[in-house]
Amino acid sequence: MKNKEPLILAVVVVFSLITYYLVEPFAHHVLHKHVESEGFVYADLPALTKTGNVANGKELVMGAGACTGCHAVEAVGMPAAMEPQMAAASYGVNPPDLSNAGAIYDAKFLADLIKNPAHALKVAHKFDATKGQAHPMAPFSGAGGDIEQEVADMVAYLQSIAIKPEAVTPKIAFENACGRCHALSYEKWTQLGEKPSFKYKKDALAFDIKVLEYEDSLKAYMGKLPPDLSMYIRSRGEHFISTLIENPQNQLEGTAMPRVGVTAQTAEKVIEYLEDAGDTKRHEREEIGKNVMIYIVIFAIFALLWKKQVWKELH
Ligand code: HEC
Ligand code: HEC
Repeated sequence: MKNKEPLILAVVVVFSLITYYLVEPFAHHVLHKHVESEGFVYADLPALTKTGNVANGKELVMGAGACTGCHAVEAVGMPAAMEPQMAAASYGVNPPDLSNAGAIYDAKFLADLIKNPAHALKVAHKFDATKGQAHPMAPFSGAGGDIEQEVADMVAYLQSIAIKPEAVTPKIAFENACGRCHALSYEKWTQLGEKPSFKYKKDALAFDIKVLEYEDSLKAYMGKLPPDLSMYIRSRGEHFISTLIENPQNQLEGTAMPRVGVTAQTAEKVIEYLEDAGDTKRHEREEIGKNVMIYIVIFAIFALLWKKQVWKELH
């Protein structure tokens, strides 16, 4: 009888390939809607038409723009008006420190956010001022001059005090853009900041209570508690999270999570942070993987030589 082994092998290979390249992607496609990234260009937002004046922007951010009434700007020595959990009790969430906003967020997005927060954040379905549901961030309606110029001035000021966009680390990106809503327990991150290691249990519990109070306000504001993101990079994958950040409504229609308006570069940093948190041995594994491949190649060469040697004697 002829040798059937090659035929059996061919059948197994063909069926494996069909499952891998046709059945699995089809099932995935049915279960998850595919959303293409638009490259974080925010095409729905109007382009900036004015060149901002930094000095005037500073006056507005500190004065008529009222930004510092709600936001800290630690970079220029402006502390928060309230403790985070108190701020969350007032606004639903702690307004983030604006020190690096100019580096983290897209300029067009910032300009639109200042004039109409619910629009830029894509949560207009939840906040309709005409129905008395005002967004907690008060819109800026002008300080008496040309509002487009005033907004451009504020954006220019925020960019002037921020670190360089290249200097935004994965940690800074995550903490600024996501950290007020999402905990990341694998990195000890809570919505109130990194949990310190306390000497006394009493102090640790007091900290936890503040976090719980904050989360209660957040839950009331968002309708549900934003999930801890430690494992999301594993369960959802990079593409899903990246397109979710770009426009949450594309992935979860009607969701309370805002479009945060980060630049493409910041989004990449956020993903990198989630990868490092959810998969801490990633770099180590890739390093070991290379060595294992080298070992296998060398071993295969020796095995082949040895086999030839053995068969030579038998024939
Ligand atoms: C009445 C309080 C209030 C004022 C005034 C205010 N903000 Fe905010 N701001 C908030 C709150 C609350 C949030 C968080 C909203 C959320 O996450 O749903 C926020 C969010 C932001 C964000 C982050 C948005 C994002 O995409 O994650 C930026 C940037 C910002 N504000 C800038 C400004 C600037 C600039 C001004 C001044 C022109 C200003 N804010 C005035 C309350 C305020
Ligand atoms: C103002 C609060 C807020 C901010 C800021 C925010 N999120 Fe969310 N996020 C939410 C809420 C609320 C949900 C739950 C959404 C739902 O189930 O409808 C959520 C859900 C998620 C989910 C889970 C989605 C799923 O499939 O269930 C991921 C992942 C996520 N956010 C990532 C991020 C990242 C990354 C950032 C920063 C770039 C961020 N979020 C910023 C409020 C926020």
